[in-house]
Amino acid sequence: MLRIGILTSGGDCQALNAAMRGVYKCVTNNAKEPVEFYGFEDGYKGLIYGKFRLLNEDDFTNILTIGGTILGTSRCPFKTIQVPDENGVDKVAAMKQNYYKLQLNCLVMLGGNGSTKTANLLSDQGLNVITLPKTIDNDLWGTDMTFGFQSAVDIATRCIDEIHTTANSHGRVFVVEIMGHKTGWLTLNAGMAGGADIILLPEIPYDIDKIIDVIEKRDKAGKRFTIIAVAEGAISKEDAKLSKKDYAKKLQKYTFPSVSYELADQISKKTGREVRVTVPGHIQRGGAPVAYDRVFATRLGAEAGAMILKGNYGFMVGYKNREMVRVPLKDVAGKLKTVDPDARIIKEAKMVGICFGD
Ligand code: F6P
Repeated sequence: MLRIGILTSGGDCQALNAAMRGVYKCVTNNAKEPVEFYGFEDGYKGLIYGKFRLLNEDDFTNILTIGGTILGTSRCPFKTIQVPDENGVDKVAAMKQNYYKLQLNCLVMLGGNGSTKTANLLSDQGLNVITLPKTIDNDLWGTDMTFGFQSAVDIATRCIDEIHTTANSHGRVFVVEIMGHKTGWLTLNAGMAGGADIILLPEIPYDIDKIIDVIEKRDKAGKRFTIIAVAEGAISKEDAKLSKKDYAKKLQKYTFPSVSYELADQISKKTGREVRVTVPGHIQRGGAPVAYDRVFATRLGAEAGAMILKGNYGFMVGYKNREMVRVPLKDVAGKLKTVDPDARIIKEAKMVGICFGD
């Protein structure tokens, strides 16, 4: 008997179900022995508190195209995972206990950065763990692509597309705030796909005067509007120069809901123009996965399934230079994949006139 535990952790995204289906189908189609799948509910919480259910064929039927996760998810930050809960429960010990109680052969974890750190911790503690790279942010080290990313890029792009007509009608400046946490992958791709005039990323601190300059030049050239795609983690040159302590102090007194509103306020004061902010927010994580993500997640799931059948553990399945790869969890944990400001794509975007505020 092969017993497999599976959970989805952290913020959800499209194609989580497609990936789990891939693992299930690969293992059940190819195993030489009976297989049991145990789904832990709401992420690591399910493993800690023993909330799980036995999954069968029906659970994995008709879920390829469904967004979200059939198991539920939650955030269990890595920094608190080794801290006992309010009732004194040692979370790591509890996870190990439940794993051994169910006599699992392995645990499959679908998650992003923080969740992969916890997976690496469990692997270090002797559990057989395989992870799959999930996040709309595409910021996981060790893989060129994460599932969910392409679906989110499409949604954020559509949002910028739709803004064009209203921006043009009113002759306004629009700031569209795009998710991505501390990295700019989503904003860079959606910004380019949506034809944003200015793209602001956390990796390239911006100078407000450069932004104003672009808006005024467009104005003079008879363009009625300017669209700025702003990553939620974008930062000005001035703020980037602050020490961590001083930046934290600034944020304590911060009165804007986010960087986009601060930017809009500055633009409106400096140019006298009408500025509007649009924040698509969690819509970017919702709905059905696009075809790319369905295929990609299925491939990742199949690779994970093949690894389970061979007993290869302690890896994240990733995608590098157009090949599916296995990356040791210890190499992935704790590292962030950021946009390189000198990357070819940034240069190409600049060549076609996109301003990055630098
Ligand atoms: O990591 C995915 C992500 O959507 C980020 O882009 C965003 O910063 C964050 O999660 C939002 O988190 P929550 O769903 O907890 O509000």
